[in-house]
Parts: sequence; C-alpha cells; structure tokens
Amino acid sequence: MSTDALYREAILDHYKHPRYKGHLETPDFQYHDHNPFCGDEITIELKVKDGIVVDAAFDGHGCAISQATASMLMEEIIGMPVEEIKKMDKEYILELLGIELGPVRLKCALLPLKVLKAGAYGLEEWPE
Ligand code: FES
Repeated sequence: MSTDALYREAILDHYKHPRYKGHLETPDFQYHDHNPFCGDEITIELKVKDGIVVDAAFDGHGCAISQATASMLMEEIIGMPVEEIKKMDKEYILELLGIELGPVRLKCALLPLKVLKAGAYGLEEWPE
C-alpha cells in the first residue's frame, strides 16, 4: 500500500471511529465554531493543568476531513503545553494528515485548528 493510501486509511479510520469524541465533565475551556461554507461544526473542550493539556474532547458533525482532523488533533494535544498549541499552523495539520489538500478541503482540515487555537488563547482569559 502506498504512503498516501495509508494516510487516507488513517483519516477514514478516525472519521469512522473518532477518538475523544464527546464532552468533558468539567472543561476549563469550551469553544465552538463552524465552517460558514458548509455549516459543519466543531466544539472542542480542554482541561488544563499547569499550562499542559491533561484532557480534551471534541464534538461536532461534518465531512470526513474536518471530523478526522479533530480526532487526530485530540490525540496529539493531550500532554502538550498550551503554548505549543498556539504555535500550531497549517503545515502542522498537513503533516498530521499526510496528504495533499485542495483549497476547499484545506478549509475543512483547518476548522478544528481554528477552534483549538481559539481555546488556547481563550485560556489566558480564564480565571484561575
Ligand atoms: Fe464542511 Fe468539510 S465540507 S468542513
């Protein structure tokens, strides 16, 4: 199987069997956004201790790319400092997915990142 096919299979697997989908009992932050072009939605919740993400969950509905990216991101960020999340960019997501994306699909893939980064920055405003 080619590397491309392996990545596609991983994306499909995350879409069909999403990791960390649902809600946290007591999140420190919850943020929700949607893709205005299609209406697909993502909500991300984070639990943070000493600047490190200790738990995360997402909920939402939409295309395979947006939902699979959210699922993959949850796996990546648990144990990660919030400061690192702030540095995540388009390249990070493309590397995570491992496939080329056209402009429309790129918007799908970046939706969870947009929500996650809003959460990371929003945490600074969160009371101790
Ligand atoms: Fe809506 Fe992908 S088609 S986020």
